[in-house]
Amino acid sequence: RKDIGRITTGSKALDELIGGGIETQAITEVFGEYGSGKSQLAHELVVTVQLPEDRGGLNGEAVFIDTENTFRPERVEQIANAFELNIEEVMEKIYIARAFNSSHQILMAEKVNELIQEGKDIRLVIVDSLTSHFRAEYVGRESLATRQQKLNQHLHTLQNIANTYNAAIFVTNQVQARPDAFFGSPTKAIGGHVLGHAATYRIWLKKGLAGKRIARLVDSPHLPEGECVFKITNDGIVD
Ligand code: GTP
Repeated sequence: RKDIGRITTGSKALDELIGGGIETQAITEVFGEYGSGKSQLAHELVVTVQLPEDRGGLNGEAVFIDTENTFRPERVEQIANAFELNIEEVMEKIYIARAFNSSHQILMAEKVNELIQEGKDIRLVIVDSLTSHFRAEYVGRESLATRQQKLNQHLHTLQNIANTYNAAIFVTNQVQARPDAFFGSPTKAIGGHVLGHAATYRIWLKKGLAGKRIARLVDSPHLPEGECVFKITNDGIVD
């Protein structure tokens, strides 16, 4: 079994909260309301995964499965500049896959295997957002079982990629601002039971005062629950 790798989030406090950075061989789910910073973290990670190990990266490449047209190259450029990386080189190591519906999203995840077999050194797969297509397409109680089954299948594909290629999986999940529903078992309360079983790490993001963000680690099997504060700046995620 290969050694677990870690990718820095850009914030030391957030890295420490989750045990040293986003882990390979695991699925990390970040959830929170609109604008809480989920996509910002995704943009940060597609850059930091490319850093050498002594700077918190894995010298690797990234796949960004984009379901809501949230990928912003100019944001990647800002973050790459902050790390003094060459923007052309950084962009060449990010494979963007637009997913038009949930079936397409599932297919795009399966295709990551082919990319790696072609020789790409993919160490990070982002799915932003994991749940939006599924929620939009499987509406109503009678389709809930199918939705969960499809989402499970998708997560299984992602977990397989994580294990087979020692890659990190980072998925976002937008939820409504109902803080009372989050205590206890948050994703069970809003995302159904599916994510509760599949995601190894779950981070709840909420907006704080003066542009700050609060991250709370929930239901982690190995780490204590806790919170930390970070900031979103033009340079990306910082303490
Ligand atoms: P969604 O899942 O799309 O809701 O993503 P998100 O939660 O990451 O939200 P979004 O990407 O819209 O960005 C959230 C916040 O990040 C914004 O409200 C801004 O506060 C901050 N942000 C986004 N882009 C920039 C930027 O270029 N510079 C700075 N300083 N902050 C930014």
